[in-house]
Amino acid sequence: MSDVSLMVNGKRVNGTAEDRTLLVHFLRENLGLTGTHVGCDTSQCGTCVVHVDGKAVKSCTMLAVQASGSTIVTIEGLANGADLHPVQAAFKEHHGLQCGFCTPGMIMTATDMINRHPEGLDEATVRAELEGNICRCTGYHNIVKAILAASKTMSKASKGKARQAA
Ligand code: FES
Ligand code: FES
Repeated sequence: MSDVSLMVNGKRVNGTAEDRTLLVHFLRENLGLTGTHVGCDTSQCGTCVVHVDGKAVKSCTMLAVQASGSTIVTIEGLANGADLHPVQAAFKEHHGLQCGFCTPGMIMTATDMINRHPEGLDEATVRAELEGNICRCTGYHNIVKAILAASKTMSKASKGKARQAA
């Protein structure tokens, strides 16, 4: 067993894990953060995506002990109290989900994608960057629509903030 110390959704978490424990299992089983799903355990489906130090990572590809010292955000940490994150709100508005199993991973991937493209996104880029996230229900159209809409909302908000600061 090894010590694992993480910041998770703004809170310090200290625990122990077997050296073979994957980050996704530590989050779900030790911390009860079951919004992060396990679809394959073999790094193909993307349902397990969380942010590690600000970047989208498939948490089935990382050991909990490897993540020690990192700052993690899971789907549970994205909303601001009762206010949904713009990406969550866009998925809701544009019907970007059906069964919802892929949704936490899709939203964490989309948030990172939008953050990396502050200039905005086009459909081809969104589709290419979603390569690592599998959805068995929606046919992706509404997911892509939701991400494009969230990208517009977030880029307007950041331009507004920049104007205020100028
Ligand atoms: S459970 Fe991690 S990619 Fe499928
Ligand atoms: S909404 Fe069912 S897997 Fe994507």
